[in-house]
Amino acid sequence: MIYYKLSLIVVSMFMMVFFLGCDAKKEAEKIYIKQLVAQKCSICHFSERIYKEPRSPREWTAIVDRMQKINPTLLKKTDSLLILEYLKQNVSK
Ligand code: HEC
Repeated sequence: MIYYKLSLIVVSMFMMVFFLGCDAKKEAEKIYIKQLVAQKCSICHFSERIYKEPRSPREWTAIVDRMQKINPTLLKKTDSLLILEYLKQNVSK
């Protein structure tokens, strides 16, 4: 019986570490992309312009695509796609 209880404790501890790990990874990714927005999207204008008005996912797709095409060397396609996902999820109406 005691082994059964112990094994339950061990299993739940593993699960806790696993889920906390996932959360931490997501949080780290969010911080990374926020920095990417601060770096890449404030080259031509203040990044204030991005956060002042929430937009629909469809509008964000059009805007980020337009920004990326203005200067593809300043803003790489891969970075713009990461930023687009972030904006859709966090600065959307
Ligand atoms: C190469 C320069 C450049 C970069 C880099 C850039 N922008 Fe822009 N952005 C512009 C210009 C020029 C305008 C104004 C003309 C326009 O709206 O197309 C603008 C306008 C905007 C607007 C207002 C559009 C509207 O319809 O009201 C938003 C929002 C925006 N940018 C977001 C971003 C985001 C997000 C990024 C990063 C992914 C970014 N910009 C990177 C040049 C840039």
